[in-house]
Amino acid sequence: YRQCAIHSGIKVRTVKKKLEHKWEPKSEESTSCINENTKMIVLNYPNNPTGKVLPKKLLDEIVEIAKKHDLFILSDEIYSNYSNDEWKSILSYNYQKSIITQSFSKSHSMTGYRIGYVVSSQDVINKLTRLQALCLTNVSEPIQYTAMKSLNDDVDDNVKTIDERLTRLQEICKEMDLEFVNPDGAMYIFARTKNPINTSELCERLLEEGLAIAPGIGFGDYNEFFRISACQDIKTLNEGMDILKTKIKD
Ligand SMILES: Cc1ncc(COP(=O)(O)O)c(C=O)c1O
Repeated sequence: YRQCAIHSGIKVRTVKKKLEHKWEPKSEESTSCINENTKMIVLNYPNNPTGKVLPKKLLDEIVEIAKKHDLFILSDEIYSNYSNDEWKSILSYNYQKSIITQSFSKSHSMTGYRIGYVVSSQDVINKLTRLQALCLTNVSEPIQYTAMKSLNDDVDDNVKTIDERLTRLQEICKEMDLEFVNPDGAMYIFARTKNPINTSELCERLLEEGLAIAPGIGFGDYNEFFRISACQDIKTLNEGMDILKTKIKD
């Protein structure tokens, strides 16, 4: 979102979150980012890469801030299926200036289909439709029909699978003495070693060993962190984590 906005000439202020604060933004920090030009707050919970879900009280406060300053809230809820009980959709606030984005990539493992959807007011949808017609023309009809049919599918098994994998990854990360917060949702662990290392270099070296993890720098100023994704079966994850153990020691 940051890069898209910057590319469109929009100024972005990021609320930096810390592992020490369990990745929770402070509501006063969000307020201090707002000035008379501010138009929108962008949220992504459950979060990629931290797996954080905001406590309800904090989310209530953020919605109040948006109302007070008459701001849009763009909430990327792509990981909503993969979340603990604390998670609450921005839709549930019935706030007129909400824009919720969703995708079939995570809930239905349909990444290659390249389809998602937006829930918002008629006015916002009309504007987005015009933009889409210019940028994308349209998503092909067979894909639209496939996606609509998939909406009726039961995706509980996907959720269970990711949950089991995340549990195993957390066990291994604890054994490895990595620093991380147990994810509340999504499908990742965002971790760092006790002695900070340059994870961009580490990730390059790991690729040569056949292991792909994402360097923290891809998510902002988090160069000492790396993101492990629970997107392989447990046997493959175990093998990958063995490679990680060896290479972190080198
Ligand atoms: C938070 C978040 N939003 C959006 C996307 C993009 O999903 P899609 O495959 O629908 O483009 C991702 C993909 O990883 C994501 O993590």
